[in-house]
Amino acid sequence: MSLIKRLLILIAVVVVILGVLNLFTYEVIKVDWLSFMEIQPSFRPMEKPLPVPENSIPVEGAAYIPGMGAPVNPVQADGVSIERGRLLYDVNCALCHGADGKGAGSVAPFLQNQPADLTTESVQTGSDGAVFMVISNGSPGRMPALNENLTVRDRWDVVNYVRTFGP
Ligand code: HEC
Repeated sequence: MSLIKRLLILIAVVVVILGVLNLFTYEVIKVDWLSFMEIQPSFRPMEKPLPVPENSIPVEGAAYIPGMGAPVNPVQADGVSIERGRLLYDVNCALCHGADGKGAGSVAPFLQNQPADLTTESVQTGSDGAVFMVISNGSPGRMPALNENLTVRDRWDVVNYVRTFGP
Protein backbone atom coordinates (compact mmCIF):
# COMPACT_ATOMS: atom_id res chain seq x y z
CA MET A 1 0.00 0.00 0.00
CA SER A 2 1.35 3.35 -0.91
CA LEU A 3 1.70 6.07 1.63
CA ILE A 4 -0.98 8.17 -0.09
CA LYS A 5 -3.49 5.33 0.07
CA ARG A 6 -2.89 4.82 3.80
CA LEU A 7 -3.27 8.55 4.39
CA LEU A 8 -6.59 8.56 2.52
CA ILE A 9 -7.90 5.67 4.63
CA LEU A 10 -6.87 7.49 7.81
CA ILE A 11 -8.64 10.67 6.68
CA ALA A 12 -11.74 8.66 5.74
CA VAL A 13 -11.83 7.06 9.20
CA VAL A 14 -11.45 10.44 10.94
CA VAL A 15 -14.21 11.98 8.77
CA VAL A 16 -16.58 9.11 9.59
CA ILE A 17 -15.91 9.46 13.34
CA LEU A 18 -16.44 13.25 13.23
CA GLY A 19 -19.57 12.76 11.15
CA VAL A 20 -21.06 10.37 13.67
CA LEU A 21 -20.25 12.77 16.55
CA ASN A 22 -21.94 15.57 14.61
CA LEU A 23 -25.15 13.53 14.52
CA PHE A 24 -25.24 13.92 18.32
CA THR A 25 -24.04 17.53 18.33
CA TYR A 26 -26.82 18.66 15.98
CA GLU A 27 -29.31 16.35 17.71
CA VAL A 28 -30.04 14.32 14.58
CA ILE A 29 -29.74 11.46 17.05
CA LYS A 30 -31.22 12.91 20.26
CA VAL A 31 -30.13 11.54 23.60
CA ASP A 32 -31.79 12.85 26.79
CA TRP A 33 -28.60 13.22 28.75
CA LEU A 34 -29.40 13.19 32.47
CA SER A 35 -27.35 16.31 33.02
CA PHE A 36 -30.07 18.53 31.55
CA MET A 37 -31.05 21.29 34.04
CA GLU A 38 -34.78 20.68 33.77
CA ILE A 39 -34.35 17.15 35.07
CA GLN A 40 -33.86 17.97 38.74
CA PRO A 41 -35.96 18.43 41.87
CA SER A 42 -37.37 21.89 41.34
CA PHE A 43 -40.73 23.57 41.31
CA ARG A 44 -42.27 25.85 38.72
CA PRO A 45 -44.15 29.10 39.27
CA MET A 46 -47.62 28.60 40.82
CA GLU A 47 -46.72 25.07 41.83
CA LYS A 48 -47.03 24.02 45.46
CA PRO A 49 -43.70 24.45 47.28
CA LEU A 50 -41.74 21.26 47.80
CA PRO A 51 -42.01 19.69 51.26
CA VAL A 52 -39.15 20.61 53.58
CA PRO A 53 -36.25 18.20 53.25
CA GLU A 54 -35.94 15.69 56.06
CA ASN A 55 -33.87 16.75 59.10
CA SER A 56 -33.75 20.40 58.00
CA ILE A 57 -34.55 23.10 60.56
CA PRO A 58 -36.53 26.25 59.68
CA VAL A 59 -34.51 29.48 59.95
CA GLU A 60 -36.81 30.63 62.74
CA GLY A 61 -35.84 27.66 64.88
CA ALA A 62 -36.98 24.19 65.78
CA ALA A 63 -40.27 25.56 67.17
CA TYR A 64 -41.66 25.42 63.66
CA ILE A 65 -41.18 21.75 62.91
CA PRO A 66 -44.73 20.41 62.54
CA GLY A 67 -45.65 17.78 65.08
CA MET A 68 -42.80 18.65 67.42
CA GLY A 69 -45.19 19.96 70.08
CA ALA A 70 -45.15 23.31 71.85
CA PRO A 71 -41.75 24.96 72.32
CA VAL A 72 -40.32 26.00 75.70
CA ASN A 73 -40.11 29.73 76.47
CA PRO A 74 -36.44 30.75 76.13
CA VAL A 75 -37.01 34.42 77.05
CA GLN A 76 -36.90 35.36 80.72
CA ALA A 77 -39.91 37.40 81.83
CA ASP A 78 -37.85 40.35 83.05
CA GLY A 79 -38.87 44.01 82.96
CA VAL A 80 -37.45 44.58 79.48
CA SER A 81 -39.27 41.60 77.96
CA ILE A 82 -42.58 42.49 79.60
CA GLU A 83 -42.30 46.14 78.52
CA ARG A 84 -41.54 45.09 74.93
CA GLY A 85 -44.43 42.64 75.13
CA ARG A 86 -46.78 45.38 76.34
CA LEU A 87 -45.91 47.65 73.40
CA LEU A 88 -46.31 44.80 70.89
CA TYR A 89 -49.53 43.60 72.51
CA ASP A 90 -51.06 47.07 72.35
CA VAL A 91 -50.32 47.24 68.61
CA ASN A 92 -51.10 43.66 67.55
CA CYS A 93 -53.57 42.17 69.99
CA ALA A 94 -55.42 44.87 71.95
CA LEU A 95 -57.75 45.70 69.05
CA CYS A 96 -59.36 42.28 69.49
CA HIS A 97 -58.47 41.05 72.96
CA GLY A 98 -58.71 44.45 74.66
CA ALA A 99 -55.96 46.33 76.46
CA ASP A 100 -56.75 44.36 79.64
CA GLY A 101 -56.91 41.02 77.80
CA LYS A 102 -60.56 40.44 78.66
CA GLY A 103 -61.58 40.12 75.02
CA ALA A 104 -63.42 43.43 74.60
CA GLY A 105 -61.20 45.11 72.03
CA SER A 106 -62.45 47.90 69.79
CA VAL A 107 -63.11 45.59 66.80
CA ALA A 108 -64.54 42.71 68.89
CA PRO A 109 -68.20 43.78 68.38
CA PHE A 110 -67.73 43.36 64.62
CA LEU A 111 -66.29 39.84 64.78
CA GLN A 112 -68.34 36.70 64.29
CA ASN A 113 -66.23 34.81 66.82
CA GLN A 114 -65.48 36.70 69.99
CA PRO A 115 -61.81 37.00 70.95
CA ALA A 116 -60.83 34.82 73.87
CA ASP A 117 -60.56 36.26 77.36
CA LEU A 118 -56.83 35.95 78.02
CA THR A 119 -57.23 36.37 81.78
CA THR A 120 -59.12 33.08 82.17
CA GLU A 121 -57.64 30.14 83.97
CA SER A 122 -57.58 27.95 80.86
CA VAL A 123 -55.24 30.40 79.11
CA GLN A 124 -53.19 31.29 82.17
CA THR A 125 -52.58 27.70 83.30
CA GLY A 126 -51.65 26.55 79.80
CA SER A 127 -47.99 26.47 78.78
CA ASP A 128 -46.14 29.47 77.36
CA GLY A 129 -45.51 27.37 74.28
CA ALA A 130 -49.25 26.89 73.72
CA VAL A 131 -49.83 30.67 73.73
CA PHE A 132 -46.80 31.07 71.44
CA MET A 133 -48.26 28.59 68.96
CA VAL A 134 -51.65 30.38 68.96
CA ILE A 135 -49.90 33.70 68.21
CA SER A 136 -47.79 32.04 65.49
CA ASN A 137 -50.49 30.02 63.75
CA GLY A 138 -53.66 31.84 64.75
CA SER A 139 -56.96 30.02 64.82
CA PRO A 140 -58.34 29.29 61.32
CA GLY A 141 -61.20 31.65 60.51
CA ARG A 142 -61.07 33.28 63.95
CA MET A 143 -57.69 34.71 64.76
CA PRO A 144 -55.02 35.62 62.19
CA ALA A 145 -51.60 33.97 62.28
CA LEU A 146 -49.20 36.66 63.43
CA ASN A 147 -45.93 34.88 62.67
CA GLU A 148 -45.21 37.31 59.84
CA ASN A 149 -45.95 40.37 61.96
CA LEU A 150 -43.94 39.38 65.01
CA THR A 151 -40.46 37.86 65.16
CA VAL A 152 -39.90 34.82 67.36
CA ARG A 153 -38.43 37.04 70.10
CA ASP A 154 -41.39 39.46 69.77
CA ARG A 155 -43.82 36.61 70.26
CA TRP A 156 -42.13 35.39 73.43
CA ASP A 157 -42.18 38.97 74.78
CA VAL A 158 -45.94 39.07 74.08
CA VAL A 159 -46.34 35.70 75.82
CA ASN A 160 -44.52 37.07 78.88
CA TYR A 161 -46.79 40.11 78.85
CA VAL A 162 -49.96 37.99 78.48
CA ARG A 163 -48.83 36.19 81.67
CA THR A 164 -49.21 39.47 83.59
CA PHE A 165 -53.00 39.21 82.98
CA GLY A 166 -53.06 36.21 85.31
CA PRO A 167 -54.06 36.39 88.96
C1 HEC B 1 -58.58 39.72 64.64
C2 HEC B 1 -58.68 39.64 66.05
C3 HEC B 1 -57.57 39.02 66.85
C4 HEC B 1 -56.27 39.45 66.97
C5 HEC B 1 -55.59 40.61 66.27
C6 HEC B 1 -55.63 38.57 67.92
N1 HEC B 1 -56.52 37.61 68.34
FE1 HEC B 1 -56.16 36.14 69.66
N2 HEC B 1 -57.98 35.35 69.33
C7 HEC B 1 -58.95 35.94 68.53
C8 HEC B 1 -60.13 35.09 68.54
C9 HEC B 1 -61.43 35.37 67.80
C10 HEC B 1 -59.83 33.98 69.36
C11 HEC B 1 -60.71 32.79 69.69
C12 HEC B 1 -60.28 31.65 68.78
C13 HEC B 1 -61.10 30.41 68.97
O1 HEC B 1 -62.16 30.46 69.60
O2 HEC B 1 -60.66 29.38 68.44
C14 HEC B 1 -58.47 34.17 69.83
C15 HEC B 1 -57.79 33.28 70.66
C16 HEC B 1 -56.57 33.56 71.25
C17 HEC B 1 -55.91 32.70 72.21
C18 HEC B 1 -56.38 31.32 72.64
C19 HEC B 1 -57.21 31.42 73.88
C20 HEC B 1 -57.66 30.06 74.35
O3 HEC B 1 -58.77 30.00 74.86
O4 HEC B 1 -56.90 29.10 74.21
C21 HEC B 1 -54.76 33.34 72.59
C22 HEC B 1 -53.73 32.86 73.61
C23 HEC B 1 -54.70 34.58 71.86
N3 HEC B 1 -55.80 34.67 71.05
C24 HEC B 1 -53.69 35.51 71.97
C25 HEC B 1 -53.51 36.57 71.09
C26 HEC B 1 -52.37 37.44 71.11
C27 HEC B 1 -51.25 37.37 72.13
C28 HEC B 1 -52.52 38.31 70.08
C29 HEC B 1 -51.55 39.35 69.61
C30 HEC B 1 -50.22 38.93 69.30
C31 HEC B 1 -53.80 38.00 69.44
N4 HEC B 1 -54.36 36.94 70.08
C32 HEC B 1 -54.33 38.69 68.36
C33 HEC B 1 -58.86 37.11 67.85
C34 HEC B 1 -57.69 37.85 67.70
